[in-house]
This record gives sequence, C-alpha cells and structure tokens, in this order.
Amino acid sequence: MTTPAELPVNSNSDVVLVRQHVRTTAIDVGLSLVDQTKVVTAASELARNALVYAGGGQVRVEIVHNGIRKGLRLVFSDEGPGIPDIEQALTDGWTTGGGLGLGLSGSRRLVDEFDLKSAPGEGTLITVTKWAR
Ligand SMILES: Nc1ncnc2c1ncn2[C@@H]1O[C@H](COP(=O)(O)OP(=O)(O)OP(=O)(O)O)[C@@H](O)[C@H]1O
Ligand SMILES: [Mg+2]
Repeated sequence: MTTPAELPVNSNSDVVLVRQHVRTTAIDVGLSLVDQTKVVTAASELARNALVYAGGGQVRVEIVHNGIRKGLRLVFSDEGPGIPDIEQALTDGWTTGGGLGLGLSGSRRLVDEFDLKSAPGEGTLITVTKWAR
C-alpha cells in the first residue's frame, strides 16, 4: 500500500486511474461498499471538472486518522480559471459547461467533509474526506 499518492488528472485515462486508486485506497481504509462507491463517484466528478474546466490538475490521495477512526482524503488542485462565485457553483443545476450542474453539489453530498477554495485566476483547491464507520 503506497499512500499518500499524487496523481495527475490530464486525460480521460487519468480519470480512470484516479477512480481505481481511490477505490483501492477506500478498501484499505475500511470503507463500506456503499461508501467506497460514493467517494469514487465524487472523485470522478471532481477529476472530470479539473480536466474540463481547468485543462487538467492533480489529486493527492491520503489516509487520515481521527482518534481510532480512519478516513480517506482527496485533495484536488488545479491552476485553471478558478470559480468566481462558489455558492452559485455549488447550486444544483448550475453549469457553465452545458452539463447537468450536479458534479460539485452531488460530490458535496457524497462525502463527510467538503471544502472548496477558489478565486478567479487563482485555480481551485477542493478537499473532501470520507470517514470509515
Ligand atoms: N475545477 C474547476 N475550475 C473552474 N470552474 C469549475 C471547476 N469545477 C467546477 N467549475 C464550475 O462550476 C460549475 C458547476 O460544476 P459541476 O460539476 O457542479 O457541474 P458541471 O460540470 O457543469 O456539470 P456535471 O453535472 O456534468 O458535472 C461548472 O459548470 C464550472 O463553471
Ligand atoms: Mg462537473
């Protein structure tokens, strides 16, 4: 088991590798099958956003501890255009790309902790954590 890992998100095949690595790490952490799928889905949406809106980025995958609890943390970063209005971007159905506008809002619901930092011209940093129960 090699964590933490820093994975590139520069192509569709990178997104596949991110999904696979997140799944494997989620199993290592002891997440239930349902929670594995939730965090893999969130990872997929966030990776796709980095690819589509920022032209690429990277994700750090790490195992974290809180007392005896173990969790899986993903830190997505990109140096793209950034998000001018974060609240708006987190609204169900809001999109600038002709998508469903559910990637960010859905991802937030699928994890236990969600933090989005972004500003125009300064890229985007999204940290999500899923705790094992
Ligand atoms: N990494 C990013 N950099 C810049 N803008 C972003 C980034 N991620 C999301 N956004 C902006 O936030 C909006 C909402 O993202 P979200 O993933 O919720 O919806 P979407 O990608 O448009 O559609 P989908 O439901 O297919 O994911 C995007 O349309 C885009 O404007
Ligand atoms: Mg999206």
